[in-house]
Amino acid sequence: MKVLALNSSPRGEGQSKTELLLSHLVQGMQAAGAQVEVVHLRTRKIKNCIGCFTCWTKTPGICIHKDDMSATLYPQFQAADMVVYATPLYHFTVNATLKAFIERTLPMLQPFFVEYQGRTVHPFRHPHPAVVMLSVAGFHEPSVFDQLSSWARFIFGKKLLAELYRPGAEALTNRYYASKAEAIRAAAVQAGRELVVHQQVSPETLANWGQTIVDDPKVWHTMGNMFWKSCIAEGVTVKEFEERGLPPRPDSLESFKLLMLMGFNAEKAGDTQALIQFEFSGEVNGACHFKIANGAIQAFDGAAAQPSVTVRSAFDTWMDILTGKADGQQLFLSKAYTVEGDLALLVRFDQIFGR
Ligand SMILES: Cc1cc2nc3c(=O)[nH]c(=O)nc-3n(C[C@H](O)[C@H](O)[C@H](O)COP(=O)(O)O)c2cc1C
Repeated sequence: MKVLALNSSPRGEGQSKTELLLSHLVQGMQAAGAQVEVVHLRTRKIKNCIGCFTCWTKTPGICIHKDDMSATLYPQFQAADMVVYATPLYHFTVNATLKAFIERTLPMLQPFFVEYQGRTVHPFRHPHPAVVMLSVAGFHEPSVFDQLSSWARFIFGKKLLAELYRPGAEALTNRYYASKAEAIRAAAVQAGRELVVHQQVSPETLANWGQTIVDDPKVWHTMGNMFWKSCIAEGVTVKEFEERGLPPRPDSLESFKLLMLMGFNAEKAGDTQALIQFEFSGEVNGACHFKIANGAIQAFDGAAAQPSVTVRSAFDTWMDILTGKADGQQLFLSKAYTVEGDLALLVRFDQIFGR
């Protein structure tokens, strides 16, 4: 089986979730014996269809444009048994790069109008490869793919073998969701195998692929908003933020608690049993505490009954320390914040929350 796998994300490896999942799908296809050609469309020149219909009249089946589509991609598309359209969800549909490719497959059709199952269609000039639609989205709700799915079903009809839609895809590279991400990558490999062997994806694999990553939308929103605000405050692009390994900066008790939970390193915490309390002053003020026991952590609002350690600080000062903008030891010596209780625990904060 010859498969043409088209990735239309403009983002490169490491950043693109389309590419991440497509590469696992392809891995499964190859393991099942398929011959797969992966094309990153961002590296190719595809001019827009200009609607001249020359490919329907003067040079039937041949496009007027001289570009990568005419030279290599269209012949590859024609020769393929299966095409995988892998696209980031942009404005709730395929992105412009993939749409340009799909529009340029017009020579595949003949101009004539015929009726098929109660609607008007153009007959194929050549056999159309089977289609797999893969897409990833930033929002976490599965319904973000409703429009794309409806369009894909309408336009590809029986040729559409499978729809693999991954909402909340940015979480796939977030360490907080690592185990779910691993299961989803494994489902992508399995889906690839099944598509080659059975020309469909089993309900079980689809369920694994589409499993909920984000259990609590509020957590997702808090995390996302903290991330965007941090990028804006630092004046960096998303890529720069990730490459520099910048920590997101909480701007509320809620986002602080979340970051602490995300940063918790169970291995380093070991058999630590502790109640860690923070009393913040300044624009963001109030208390919260964390209970560490049996390698797990829980966050609570308000003061603890008998905290092991209490940090009292201006919120901004502590966030400067947390994000590496200020030296915690120096600020401690200059009494910019105070600590009551188990100082040894404070010294281990870097490790316990170092994830
Ligand atoms: C121009 C643009 C439009 C987007 N539109 C949507 C959208 O409609 N719904 C959504 O959930 N995410 C949307 N996103 C987020 C992307 O789908 C998400 O970041 C995805 O991971 C990008 O795919 P990639 O990682 O392969 O580049 C949009 C992103 C961009 C840049």
